[in-house]
Amino acid sequence: MKTEVLSVREIPVREIAEKAAAVLSSGGLSAFPTETVYGLGGNGLSGDSAEKIYAAKGRPSDNPLILHIGYKKQLRPLVKKIPGKAKKLMKTFWPGPLTIIFEKSDIVPDRTSGGLPTVAVRMPSHPVAKAILRAVPFPVAAPSANLSGRPSTTKASHVIEDLGGRVEQIIDGGDVPIGVESTIIDLSGPEPVLLRYGYITLGEIEDVIGPVTVDPAIRAENIVSHAVSVEHPKAPGMKYRHYAPKMPLFIVSGQEDDIISAIRRKASKKAGILTFDEHMDRFPEGFKVSLGSIENPEEAAHRLFDSLRQFDSLPVDIIYAEDMSAHDIGGAIMNRLLKAAGGNLIRADKL
Ligand code: TXA
Ligand code: MG
Repeated sequence: MKTEVLSVREIPVREIAEKAAAVLSSGGLSAFPTETVYGLGGNGLSGDSAEKIYAAKGRPSDNPLILHIGYKKQLRPLVKKIPGKAKKLMKTFWPGPLTIIFEKSDIVPDRTSGGLPTVAVRMPSHPVAKAILRAVPFPVAAPSANLSGRPSTTKASHVIEDLGGRVEQIIDGGDVPIGVESTIIDLSGPEPVLLRYGYITLGEIEDVIGPVTVDPAIRAENIVSHAVSVEHPKAPGMKYRHYAPKMPLFIVSGQEDDIISAIRRKASKKAGILTFDEHMDRFPEGFKVSLGSIENPEEAAHRLFDSLRQFDSLPVDIIYAEDMSAHDIGGAIMNRLLKAAGGNLIRADKL
């Protein structure tokens, strides 16, 4: 299939939105930027479009898709009810990087929800996403626009690399502003449950709706120890290996100086090192990729997936990454890094 690539640097956003709407309305797939990562869009009310998305990504079809809307009023027909806590969260965080899980109504196809009785919905704030979502009369199902198992895409070049030739259209809207996927909260049951860490933090959510349970499958200690059975996790995406670079990745934890000496000791010429600007000069050997300043976790979030992809094009046979603060956005970064590492977290003195 020939993939049409349209850039917002050359074509006005209004025109881009019309062209994307034409593809989506005719049952095709259009990948477009959101504030978190690029999404691979299809008609969210069409089971056939859902199937096309699964095929293009090589994604198992029991892993449900998030429905994206351009107006809050589009939510009501998709769900059985809108709980009070959802209303509060929508008021505070929509449009923005928060996905909420509801009991689904009958108009949401089972193929979109992966056979679950629930549906994930999000209203993005990115101007290009917003324009596209407002140009179609249906919600748009959009998983991250990467091949299944690969790091999510934060630049149009990543999307072209993974999905070029597999989808009708890719909208190049430049680098995405955030770089990690939306926070997911499940409000379909009696108590709110956090299913994915993201840019909006647990603390920010609890400030609005009170206590939230964190799903055991996303707790860092359980990813490391593989403690939780991931046969039937709440977010089916959790059972698949994610964000994986092509070679083994180890996260090294401990005091900063200990981490650096341990990696220095182990790293040969063919090692990849995921580090920070401040530490670049301290590793004489290996291929170094910086996540930016250690003082700027937002920048690290922004660069994470691109950095993991960079290693795939370097002649490295192993990657060492420095541990990162597990607070706020650092928590979302560590969560993705731990998944990329398949839970390989090693103390500096054990490396
Ligand atoms: O930031 C984002 O959320 C991006 C952009 C494109 O919006 N989208 C995204 O979609 O990350 P995806 O498909 O890569 O990840 C969605 C996650 C999956 O782990 C899936 O299992 C989970 O959400 N999910 C979707 N519907 C669900 C449901 N009804 N119940 C539980 N988990 C669900
Ligand atoms: Mg994804």
